[in-house]
Amino acid sequence: MIKELKEAFRFAASISFWRMAVFWTISLFISYFQLHTNWIFSRRLQSYPRCHPPISESLTPVCVITGATSGLGAAAAHALSREGFFVVLVGRSSHLLSKIMTEIKTQNKGAHVKAFVVNLASFQSILEFKSSLQQWLLDCKLHCSLQLLINNAGILATSSRTTPEGYDQMMGTNYIGPFCLTKLLLPLLKRSPVPSRIVNVTSFTHRSVFDVQVDKESVSGTRFLRSEQYPFARLYEYSKLFLILFSYELHRQLGLMDQPYHVSCCGSWKCKNQHHEGSPFMSFEFGISSFEVFGPFAVTKEWG
Ligand SMILES: NC(=O)c1ccc[n+]([C@@H]2O[C@H](COP(=O)([O-])OP(=O)(O)OC[C@H]3O[C@@H](n4cnc5c(N)ncnc54)[C@H](OP(=O)(O)O)[C@@H]3O)[C@@H](O)[C@H]2O)c1
Repeated sequence: MIKELKEAFRFAASISFWRMAVFWTISLFISYFQLHTNWIFSRRLQSYPRCHPPISESLTPVCVITGATSGLGAAAAHALSREGFFVVLVGRSSHLLSKIMTEIKTQNKGAHVKAFVVNLASFQSILEFKSSLQQWLLDCKLHCSLQLLINNAGILATSSRTTPEGYDQMMGTNYIGPFCLTKLLLPLLKRSPVPSRIVNVTSFTHRSVFDVQVDKESVSGTRFLRSEQYPFARLYEYSKLFLILFSYELHRQLGLMDQPYHVSCCGSWKCKNQHHEGSPFMSFEFGISSFEVFGPFAVTKEWG
């Protein structure tokens, strides 16, 4: 107990804690303020109506959702299976994947669901997933294409770990993994006979990055690992910023090719379920760090 209390105090005294408390709170307010002023004054806020997937005899739309075992990913998997998608669930744990598959099938008897165990922090695992997915599409006699890719998996880790390739674990999971997965699955998305879509789930925290440096050291995370304490807040902000920059660039490049896809960059709302890796105190501390201001703004994962 004393050890845990010491850990909690050490955490509360860390720079990352106060960075989250101050900058993330301000970032969240700015995001909400912009959203609402756009909506009220200029009506520039475009809403894209949900359109049902193009189901036909020759095409069952297939979507891939990463981090589908909990939170926003699981909620999206439930919703998309109800809309008629063949939902491919991607997660780290076979046990959690089986659990969510059972839940989806219990709620929707006609749901089409398939699960793959993939560690997005490992190139090898992503490469193996691409091959297995292609083989599975062939085996099931489905059209060899994808209609939707949702890069949702993401972590907020409080202790330093590295990926098998030597990158920071958070950078690997939140940015490098989705980047590689998207690049590898792009041929399948391009092969879709109907417009396909990529959704990258980001956050409002990128607004807290003031010293943007886009180089190999920042992308791998090594630039941030020189300080004594693990600067998890900065790493999280950077990983989400890189994901947004990647989305813009991909959107630009696909637009130049005049192809019928739509790359969406989706900023997540603050949801009630978000959990954190590395510290048993993290969720509690995250609540305090934001002075509980997120509370009234937090939405359910289904709404998110
Ligand atoms: N919830 C919020 O308020 C909020 C706010 C801003 C942004 N976001 C972003 O929204 C996304 C989803 O958030 P959430 O709160 O729903 O997250 P969550 O409940 O913590 O779920 C994260 C998912 O990602 C998976 N995952 C983590 N590391 C992985 C890896 N290396 N390989 C494969 N899967 C991995 C987890 O699998 P395991 O079950 O195996 O851990 C889990 O299914 C994240 O990108 C997050 O950064 C969320």
